[in-house]
Amino acid sequence: MQRYLITGGRGYIGSVLARRLARSGAEVVVVDNGMVGGPELDLPGIAYVDGDVRDTGSWEKALEGVDAVVHLAAIVGDPACGVDPDTAWEVNYRGTIQVAEACRRADVRSLVFASTCSNYGVTGDREVDAWSPLAPQSVYAESKVMAEHYLLSLPHDMLSSRLLRFATIHGLSPRMRFDLAVNVMTANAVARGAVTVHGGTQWRPFLHVEDAASAVQLTLGDVRRIGTTVHNCGSREENYRMDAVGDLIAEEVPGTGVEIRKEQTDPRNYRVNFDPIARELGFSPSLRVVDTVRHIRDAMRDGEFADFGAARYSNHQIAVARREGSVRTRAL
Ligand SMILES: NC(=O)c1ccc[n+]([C@@H]2O[C@H](COP(=O)([O-])OP(=O)(O)OC[C@H]3O[C@@H](n4cnc5c(N)ncnc54)[C@H](O)[C@@H]3O)[C@@H](O)[C@H]2O)c1
Repeated sequence: MQRYLITGGRGYIGSVLARRLARSGAEVVVVDNGMVGGPELDLPGIAYVDGDVRDTGSWEKALEGVDAVVHLAAIVGDPACGVDPDTAWEVNYRGTIQVAEACRRADVRSLVFASTCSNYGVTGDREVDAWSPLAPQSVYAESKVMAEHYLLSLPHDMLSSRLLRFATIHGLSPRMRFDLAVNVMTANAVARGAVTVHGGTQWRPFLHVEDAASAVQLTLGDVRRIGTTVHNCGSREENYRMDAVGDLIAEEVPGTGVEIRKEQTDPRNYRVNFDPIARELGFSPSLRVVDTVRHIRDAMRDGEFADFGAARYSNHQIAVARREGSVRTRAL
């Protein structure tokens, strides 16, 4: 039986991944500090350890007998990292070094690292591949690029890493996020009958959260040990211009008005080639953006997520609350 350890396994992607791996018969240990309040799933095969990637000593024992680590724990998203850049560097960059070092001590030789297509920054209509120059636009992407550099610099016989640069994720998860484009735009369409698109001509690739988990699972099952690799994780058909996402949502949620605002609040604009992951790992997503729009629309019509604007669904709001909490504590 395979045994995997997932850092950040109570998060949006991690909770779907833990569920998927446990259902496939694997043993899963989740290490998470609970900072976004994600659930502990009551499923056979999953064990939870309360731990922080900045302090591996407190949970390193859990690495015993682990076949591979999936390192998802991070301060996630440009806005959340912008609230407290020092903590973002500590968790996303130094935390990755700590996890790799802990793997070395425990003789775990295989790591899957959650990176991001945000690393490409601003590329426009030109399609980029894994060898294209990176142009991170935020502390979040910079910290991911540096963590990639670190993992790529390690000798392959010490730790063989699979770096997956995920497209922007969407879809339902036990730890729901409504700070991701497709999710929040759909929720606004259902609740307010309006979708706002900032800019509109910028490109963005998308990937369903179940497909992100299935890509990690495929990567874990890939027994070719060929050293550290970098893959864009998504699919060519799921590159969209943001105005097209607005139109698609309006079609699925009749009565929705699409408001295009000139000012582009987020500079990112990238269109990504995902052919290598399809060719080399046989990865092909099973769900598209339109599926998430329908799933969220139907869930909201059934009365779910009336509170989709609540702080717990937004990493930025969680980061702000934590900062204010710590400021208050210091003042006391
Ligand atoms: N969601 C996306 O669109 C997307 C896209 C590209 C890459 N990624 C990457 O995928 C990974 C998971 O993202 P997500 O969307 O599930 O985000 P998330 O915020 O839902 O999950 C992150 C998890 O990490 C945990 N965590 C944070 N700091 C920690 C620490 N110091 N120690 C231990 N646990 C800690 C949180 O409690 C949370 O459960 C991240 O590395 C992210 O950068 C996500």
